[in-house]
Amino acid sequence: MAIRVGILTSGGDCPGLNATLRGVAKALYHRMGDKVEIVGIMNGYDGLINGNYREMSPDEFSGILTVGGTILGTKRTPFKKMRVVEDDKVDKVAAMKKNYRAAKLDCLLCLGGNGTHKTANLLSQEGLNIIGLPKTIDNDLNGTDHCPGFASAAKFIATTCMEVHRDAHVYDTGMVTVIEIMGRHAGWLAGSAALATWAGFGPDLVYLPEVDFDMSKFISDVKEIYSKTGKCMVAVSEGIHYSDGSFVSEAKTSATDGFGHAQLGGLAVMLADVIKKETGAKVRGIELSLLQRCGSHVASKTDIDEAYLAGKSAVEAAVSGYTDKMVAFQCSRDSGYKCEIALQPLDIV
Ligand code: F6P
Repeated sequence: MAIRVGILTSGGDCPGLNATLRGVAKALYHRMGDKVEIVGIMNGYDGLINGNYREMSPDEFSGILTVGGTILGTKRTPFKKMRVVEDDKVDKVAAMKKNYRAAKLDCLLCLGGNGTHKTANLLSQEGLNIIGLPKTIDNDLNGTDHCPGFASAAKFIATTCMEVHRDAHVYDTGMVTVIEIMGRHAGWLAGSAALATWAGFGPDLVYLPEVDFDMSKFISDVKEIYSKTGKCMVAVSEGIHYSDGSFVSEAKTSATDGFGHAQLGGLAVMLADVIKKETGAKVRGIELSLLQRCGSHVASKTDIDEAYLAGKSAVEAAVSGYTDKMVAFQCSRDSGYKCEIALQPLDIV
């Protein structure tokens, strides 16, 4: 009898999702030949709750290595609501267990970030065989050196900053540019803009969500640089907030991201307007928005290779009988970059 492996992608979009799926499929078909069936769960945990899954054919995993998005679709299904029975009266945990059995799965591979791994841990405590696979552009998962998806987004951000820097210097007139970067609570992505500065073409100022934002200090910092050079480039995380915790950008939109969090955005234009009023300079507010996570034309090869490796390693872990683990990276940089696979317990993720 063939073994049946379920797989889902959950949470926000991220580079490398399809590379990981391909790594899983390649490893399974290589190891098991026609003794394996891959069951694709559509739209994250939502597909497991609602029985939206189907057997995949090997060709569906062809030609997807560097393609953005995910062939399985994804959705944000908040962990804190998993045990809550809502108006639709569906007991989500019971439904996921029932569908896992109905699909005759031997194990389930869950590809996602923090919330995804909390739910993966819950399912594993409920007796299902689960292996987690990391991904998030925010790079904020515990237990792994870094997360697939982050490096490609970081590369896009640094490259874009370098290009904007060139553009901002074509005229001999003054110019202030503000570039807004994702990462609600983690500054890794905004910090990546500093790679462009290191190369000589990046932002003069970088604002991270880990540090309280002070509007007067921001204005005086920009004014100081602008008065000396006639230019100023600022990289700012979408998640910057005042000392009372309120997001600087929150008032700008009433949309939510599927977790009930305000969808952030509009910050770059708002800050650029503030600077225009204060200095009279020509300004541009640039929101990198979805471009930073879907820009597969500039994806990092290392990132895609590692996403693929993670997929293969999840198969090794599952076939060796592990459950309740996440595939993680352990890296050394002492004599050249080296990345090795480790397995971490899901409850620390
Ligand atoms: O997954 C994390 C993230 O990319 C954050 O950096 C960002 O705030 C959020 O997702 C955007 O999510 P959505 O696509 O749901 O608006």
